Amino acid sequence: MKDKKIIFSGIQPSGNLTLGNYLGAIINWIPRQDEYNCIYSIVDLHALTVRQNPAELRQKTRSLLALYIACGLDPDKNVLFVQSHNGAHAELAWILNCYTYTGELSRMTQFKEKSQSHADNINAGLFTYPVLMAADILLYQTDLVPVGHDQKQHLEITRDIAQRFNNIYGEVFTVPEAYIPEVGARIMSLQQPENKMSKSDENPNNYISLLDSPNTIVKKFKRAVTDSERIIRYDEKDKPGISNLMSIYASVVGKSYKEIEEEFQGKGYGDFKQRVGEAVAETLKPIQEKHRELMADKGYLDNIMKDGAERAENLSYRTLRKVYKKIGLVPRG
Ligand code: AMP
Ligand code: TRP
Repeated sequence: MKDKKIIFSGIQPSGNLTLGNYLGAIINWIPRQDEYNCIYSIVDLHALTVRQNPAELRQKTRSLLALYIACGLDPDKNVLFVQSHNGAHAELAWILNCYTYTGELSRMTQFKEKSQSHADNINAGLFTYPVLMAADILLYQTDLVPVGHDQKQHLEITRDIAQRFNNIYGEVFTVPEAYIPEVGARIMSLQQPENKMSKSDENPNNYISLLDSPNTIVKKFKRAVTDSERIIRYDEKDKPGISNLMSIYASVVGKSYKEIEEEFQGKGYGDFKQRVGEAVAETLKPIQEKHRELMADKGYLDNIMKDGAERAENLSYRTLRKVYKKIGLVPRG
């Protein structure tokens, strides 16, 4: 059945997609749609680990689907679907919970961080979040998972769970590899370049939303925190702000750090920030136009969701049935 290798990835519909999501993840999904069988989910169940406003969650789920397509994912070539539309994810997650140790979950940095930022709601879902993610990936016999750097640890635990299960029951799961890009995997906050750019950040000046207007984008870049050296050179440790802007510019225009240093030799930070802002705004313009068009066509988006859910379900139930059989659950007949 496996004529091509399988790619799976997902994004939570928990806020407006940021430039970090785009450069760390989506931009790497687009060029692979012919070479691989690609499955991309809108992981709404994951988003529930933090309190969501129901109406907003619905709206953001649709908007994220429209953004996937607007960014260039062809719904005919890729399976695009909403996680909660395929019951197999929650089912396999339960099983895998019983093959995951609380010790390994308590070492997850995202859990530690989110426990701090949501101290009033450290729920069990937040703790077992990586197990649901493992289920997402393993259900489809995924070979490759393109994600940003922050998901590296979750990929490692997914591999550990898969290997542990296979060691007991034979080759049930493909053990997936992470694909983390060299440039763009860690886009940092514009005001606090020591933190990652996050769509749930309270201060909108910290991130670029894919739906920000060109003016807002340029303004946010002009306000970005830099340093007092006044030289454009890449140095993550001593110049985190400038280095972050350089990695954004590098991803967007496809230049190396060396070429960027040459381009802006003798120029000030003001010129550089202006140019980065303009380049980002130019890149996002066609995506925003397409997104607007798609959001106006509810029927089209609904059909894609429905078709995606059916395809995802068909693919994943093969794995789920095999798992049930291996562990000794009686088939319903
Ligand atoms: P999330 O927004 O947490 O659902 O993340 C969706 C995808 O975007 C994952 O592959 C993340 O690794 C990636 N991502 C999120 N934030 C960033 C960032 N600041 N830089 C690079 N990649 C990111
Ligand atoms: N945990 C990922 C994030 O926060 C989102 C995600 C959920 C995911 N399931 C996935 C990514 C499966 C890749 C594969 O970014």
